[in-house]
Amino acid sequence: MPLVTTTKMFEDAYKGGYAVGAFNVNNMEIIQGIIGAAKKLGSPLILQVSKGARAYANHTYLTKLVEAAVIESGLPIALHLDHGPDFETCKSCIDGGFTSVMIDGSAHPYEENIAITKKVVEYAHAHGVTVEGELGKLAGVEDDVQVSAEDALFTNPDEVEDFVTRTGVDSLAIAIGTSHGAYKFKPGQDPKLRLDILEEIGRRLPGFPIVLHGASSVPQDFVALVNQYGGKMPDAIGIPESELKKAAAMAVCKINIDSDLRLAMTAAVRRHLAENPGDFDPRQYLAPARDAIEAMVAHKIQNVLGCAGKA
Ligand code: G3H
Ligand code: 13P
Ligand code: ZN
Repeated sequence: MPLVTTTKMFEDAYKGGYAVGAFNVNNMEIIQGIIGAAKKLGSPLILQVSKGARAYANHTYLTKLVEAAVIESGLPIALHLDHGPDFETCKSCIDGGFTSVMIDGSAHPYEENIAITKKVVEYAHAHGVTVEGELGKLAGVEDDVQVSAEDALFTNPDEVEDFVTRTGVDSLAIAIGTSHGAYKFKPGQDPKLRLDILEEIGRRLPGFPIVLHGASSVPQDFVALVNQYGGKMPDAIGIPESELKKAAAMAVCKINIDSDLRLAMTAAVRRHLAENPGDFDPRQYLAPARDAIEAMVAHKIQNVLGCAGKA
């Protein structure tokens, strides 16, 4: 099966009350770990590439690795641009074989967000590619944009119908309490999703797929593991997985996870090198890192997304 767009994936996810995982990829081991879990569990997948990932690994290397993943797995996989910052980046990904792009106009004023998103939708749809837009601002860091907690804004349900109708987007990322990165909330805080806002948005946009960014939950055993082996991760917690699971059963059809994969991978590399100080063969420390990614993705598919057996 060739790369797919998100259209059928989201139709099925909406009807089935589950979400598809969108995992950020930056190198071969990350892709192989994600594919290993999805293959064992028969899960559809979105592999997403940020501007930073393209700068790090190169567009062609990443698309060829993802092509290999499609051939090796036989799974329905969408290749998606994460946080496309402008029309040119989206166009370059559409021309370069991606089947889905996000145009993130959320930092712009409303009318500018509509204008830039509509321009991307027109080009993408003419090339058979699906588009995710964003309304509302998440706290945290994405590429070079940093949004403080005070500047984060929940999505206003009054705007969603107008935004979706005027831009023609295929899915919409919203802000309901998640945030990017590993440093989300302090231990002792009780982070919750604004499921009431999600419910209202679902009422305003019946059948329309919603996307959640910043959905890593920063598992505390992994934070402890990284620190045990010489890391210096500050105390932080994410949105509990039980909350994300509720969102996946509602209108949320795509859940973005990057930081938890980074955490799992870093813990595995640190542990391996601490326990095997003589190793200098990258295969020796990247193999456990790849296994850690696989275990983390399998955990998310089974405990958060609910997409096992839906490929
Ligand atoms: O939301 C951002 C993603 O975690 C990608 O991070 O821009 O460092 O590749 P990155
Ligand atoms: P996390 O940093 O919570 O993993 O979010 C990733 C994300 O939203 C990618 O777009
Ligand atoms: Zn994001």
